[in-house]
Amino acid sequence: ARGGSLAGRRFLVTAGPTVEPLDPVRFLSNHSSGKQGYAIAEALAFRGADVALVSGPTALAAPSGVRRIQVSTAREMLAACEAELPVDVAVCTAAVSDWRAKVQATGKIKKTSEGPPTLELIENPDILAALCRHAQRPKLVVGFAAETDDVLVNAKAKRIRKGCDWLVANDVRQGVFGADRNTVTLIDGTEAVNWPEMDKRSVANLLVDRIEEFLIAH
Ligand code: C5P
Repeated sequence: ARGGSLAGRRFLVTAGPTVEPLDPVRFLSNHSSGKQGYAIAEALAFRGADVALVSGPTALAAPSGVRRIQVSTAREMLAACEAELPVDVAVCTAAVSDWRAKVQATGKIKKTSEGPPTLELIENPDILAALCRHAQRPKLVVGFAAETDDVLVNAKAKRIRKGCDWLVANDVRQGVFGADRNTVTLIDGTEAVNWPEMDKRSVANLLVDRIEEFLIAH
């Protein structure tokens, strides 16, 4: 067995965007770089944990010691996550597309004289919420929330709505997407702690410190 303070512990980390096809050439997605989630997976593996990183398409290489499972759609991400259970801890950093096309066209959608097509969308599964209410719920589930307004109020409500234990809120007005630095607030059942701006690796290391403390206490 590998050494390290998290040896023998199993983790699931989601990261990156999801990509939802509209037709064979077009898709719905977002600007998530995956950097924060990959940094967390790397920090966990460095401490000897068994880490499954379920990732949407990103430009990043799999961190060393991490088992990466690559997916594209939200439904694939959910299935890949459920296949990894049971785990001790799940950390959901993925920017999952809230919606997908109701019907995926089998051929390229054509420009016609009738004007632009109407896109009918349907809701995607909420992976974080699904993990929280799963029969094999991890002991600790950590969500992330990118907010642009009323960060604290919205993030506290989101923690409760999703059913996760901790929520890491970040204010994305400062354009955190693809950046190397992040400013976050860690919200648990009792308090909200503002962390100073730091690089995403430092956010990852401090979060993993907190997770270790939790696992020792529980
Ligand atoms: O509701 P919102 O998308 O802001 O919630 C963000 C949190 O929920 C993140 O942890 C994200 O990974 C997770 N999430 C998810 N599946 C979704 C939507 C969000 O796991 N469909």
